[in-house]
Amino acid sequence: MSNSYCVAILGATGAVGKELLELLESRNFPVSKLKLLASERSAGQKLPFRGENLLVEPVSDRAFENVDIVLASAGGSTSKTWAPIATEKGAVVIDNSSAFRMNEEVPLVVPEVNPQAAANHKGIIANPNCTTILMAVAVWPLHKIKPIKRIVAATYQSASGAGAKAMAEVQTQTSAILEGKQPTAEVFPYPLAFNLFPHNSPLTDWGYCEEEMKMVNETRKIFADQNIRITATCVRVPVLRAHSEAINLEFETPFNPDEAREILSKSPGVKLVEDWQKNYFPMPFEATGRDEVLVGRIRQDISHPCGLELWLCGDQIRKGAALNAVQIAELLVEKSLLKPTPSLVNG
Ligand SMILES: NC(=O)c1ccc[n+]([C@@H]2O[C@H](COP(=O)([O-])OP(=O)(O)OC[C@H]3O[C@@H](n4cnc5c(N)ncnc54)[C@H](OP(=O)(O)O)[C@@H]3O)[C@@H](O)[C@H]2O)c1
Repeated sequence: MSNSYCVAILGATGAVGKELLELLESRNFPVSKLKLLASERSAGQKLPFRGENLLVEPVSDRAFENVDIVLASAGGSTSKTWAPIATEKGAVVIDNSSAFRMNEEVPLVVPEVNPQAAANHKGIIANPNCTTILMAVAVWPLHKIKPIKRIVAATYQSASGAGAKAMAEVQTQTSAILEGKQPTAEVFPYPLAFNLFPHNSPLTDWGYCEEEMKMVNETRKIFADQNIRITATCVRVPVLRAHSEAINLEFETPFNPDEAREILSKSPGVKLVEDWQKNYFPMPFEATGRDEVLVGRIRQDISHPCGLELWLCGDQIRKGAALNAVQIAELLVEKSLLKPTPSLVNG
């Protein structure tokens, strides 16, 4: 990659923003200039990038001048305000929020699944929901071989899925409980330490929470298959980082677990983790900080001849958000779907 690009991270001080910063550096993304944007609250902070401490600026119209790529991770309302302004100024926005995911004009991309969709962007590309990305990476290679009729998912979602403040809250609650004090909750509705509760996103009229409906609707859009029946129960668990999911798949015809294992062991973005002798399977602790979705415990569903069970863990800040966004940016560069700004090259 000979060209370099001016990149802005909107939400640079958050859990996803800091991971984006690390990934741009560690993956050697061709950055000519990096702008760190957040709210007035953290303007003036400095964050490290390639041996320098870069200043965090408050987001403004002017901040998007000459920017090629915006990696947005500052929540839906912030993206709704600033993404149109950034695209107006010529940037491509890769958005981590849910603001544009179901918009028909906006591709919803997991590079291991539907990289071709990125080519149709009109300035905004959406990064799917974290839980959805992890499931899509693990399930797509099987769906390609034998179409899936139905998915039943149960999730075990870490505190960090709700951002940096939620991680800190669980740590504070844990210390409080261990000291015999009453834990308090501000980010989550209830104490999460030594506890769990159904996902805290708003409930819909059908009794599903929004997180569950994201898994349903976004998976169908990514797979370009509106016929897959999907149901999910999403639960917050007192894990600091990395989500886990128990997935039940129903195919048209039986799927031999060994064949599934063989396919997944060669699939991009997947790492098979299974030692049946030791009862050793994916764990959030081991998924933390890793790029791959760890998959294991693949077995025949004894209640259905065409059913398969699997278990997965993935770092949702990384593959569920920041890494997926950077992979999309890499795809845009590789496929020449961005215009480099000559004045900024090596600037
Ligand atoms: N955490 C995950 O696992 C995950 C996974 C997938 C997608 N996402 C999505 O990614 C986004 C960020 O999540 P996060 O977990 O990183 O949250 P976070 O840790 O709470 O960080 C939020 C970031 O957004 C900035 N921000 C908030 N309001 C702003 C405003 N009005 N103007 C400018 N900047 C503003 C914050 O800046 P200040 O420091 O100035 O407050 C901070 O940098 C959300 O849309 C979330 O749904 C998160």
